[in-house]
Amino acid sequence: MATASASASTPTKLSGQRVVVTGASSGIGAALARELAGRGAEVVLVARTRTALEALSAELPGSSVVVGDLATAAGCAAAAGEILAGGVPEVVVHNAGAGRWLAVDETPEGEAATMMAVPYLAAFELTRALTPAMIARRRGRHVYMTSVSAFLHVPGAAGYSAARWAVRGLAGQVRADLRGTGVGVTLLAPAEVDSPYFDHNPGTRERIPRATVLMGGRASTTTIARLGADAVEAGRRTAILPRQAALVVRTTPPPVLSWLAARTGWRHP
Ligand SMILES: NC(=O)c1ccc[n+]([C@@H]2O[C@H](COP(=O)([O-])OP(=O)(O)OC[C@H]3O[C@@H](n4cnc5c(N)ncnc54)[C@H](OP(=O)(O)O)[C@@H]3O)[C@@H](O)[C@H]2O)c1
Repeated sequence: MATASASASTPTKLSGQRVVVTGASSGIGAALARELAGRGAEVVLVARTRTALEALSAELPGSSVVVGDLATAAGCAAAAGEILAGGVPEVVVHNAGAGRWLAVDETPEGEAATMMAVPYLAAFELTRALTPAMIARRRGRHVYMTSVSAFLHVPGAAGYSAARWAVRGLAGQVRADLRGTGVGVTLLAPAEVDSPYFDHNPGTRERIPRATVLMGGRASTTTIARLGADAVEAGRRTAILPRQAALVVRTTPPPVLSWLAARTGWRHP
């Protein structure tokens, strides 16, 4: 195994299966879409930027594009309708996400709601809309993208980190709700990844605690995509990526992780 993960449930077959990836126009989502397509999946690429989705789709045989803004319940419902019109997905990767790293008192009014809208509410709404069809087939898998920041407290990233904690909580709740239905859940939690996230959310990279080097430093999107796809295929419940991040998170008490982040991260002026 390339990654340390909590115990597995039923393995998930990807070859020939319909696999949805949200946030597929950039970064980790685009890399995951490539990796999953390379393993034979028919990927459905979801995001707002049509040009990027269509360019990626042109590279990936059997892929299709759903353009939509997942920041509202109506946008999620429309995307879910389009996804289901093409067939019931085997796997849904809830990866779309955004949010600047800001302390609670730096966050402009209303921005916390935006940061909860995508990833957390988008993942909730898409899960709600797609799950009945997946249960009817008695199989499938929801895959939730969070971050190692959902396993500790990071100074100067209140809205971002709380939304990743919410995604982690959602994954556990969905697993509890869907026990016995044949629909499984995988939580993916990368440490720092070299993606355009930091261009899309300015001021964020500067706040990553220096202690993150203990977690293996900055991983490439292709590495995270390969390890994430391995975890999905194996039916893992939780995969903290890469392996060194998993070892640190699994062997260090959460208060010590938060202390390390506080000592080596952003400090309030
Ligand atoms: N990069 C890291 O170091 C890192 C580490 C751990 C976890 N993560 C998490 O991984 C997830 C993906 O991040 P990334 O690094 O790949 O960032 P990214 O390159 O900025 O990609 C974000 C993706 O989310 C999509 N998205 C954002 N808002 C959306 C909306 N309203 N509706 C539909 N799609 C939306 C974007 O597409 P459009 O703009 O085209 O809509 C884009 O495809 C995020 O939740 C991030 O927190 C990242």
